[in-house]
Amino acid sequence: MQEKKIEISFISANLMELSAEEQQLVSSAKLAFKTAYAPYSGFLVGASVLLENGEVISGSNQENVAFPSGLCAERVALFYAAAKYPDIRINTIAVSVFSNSFQENDVISPCGACRQVMAEYELKQEQSIKVILHSPSDKVLIANTVKSLLPFMFKSSLLKKY
Ligand code: THU
Repeated sequence: MQEKKIEISFISANLMELSAEEQQLVSSAKLAFKTAYAPYSGFLVGASVLLENGEVISGSNQENVAFPSGLCAERVALFYAAAKYPDIRINTIAVSVFSNSFQENDVISPCGACRQVMAEYELKQEQSIKVILHSPSDKVLIANTVKSLLPFMFKSSLLKKY
């Protein structure tokens, strides 16, 4: 038996310390949360994906009265980007949040399912995806790779049979 340790690395910063392009991406995510359909949680999330071709694709969380039928902002944006540009790599994803019902000072942190989806696109494109998580008070947490957010992602080459 042997205990093993993994090291996870991330950057903590203020929005103003980011490059102009990254600040712009966060602004897009902030605009995107205004399009959220979140009548059940009141938790509005926006996600913007910067592609290698310079295009920005945004999404927001979409809820449904049959609760599990809804989808998080991250996956709406990622699936939209992948459906529109299946062969273009993803450089960065920025995520922002607004909640009417309570004060949210922390950065928005993607759920496990969204991390898994990000991780698979990262694996597929053989290039890291930068993740920028934004708080309403303009603090940001940056992971240079999805591996830092989901070190033990589910992957199985056995499922690939074609
Ligand atoms: N949500 C997101 O869109 N992204 C996250 O990272 C966390 C949660 C959504 C799902 C649901 O519509 C609402 O926030 C409350 O969980």
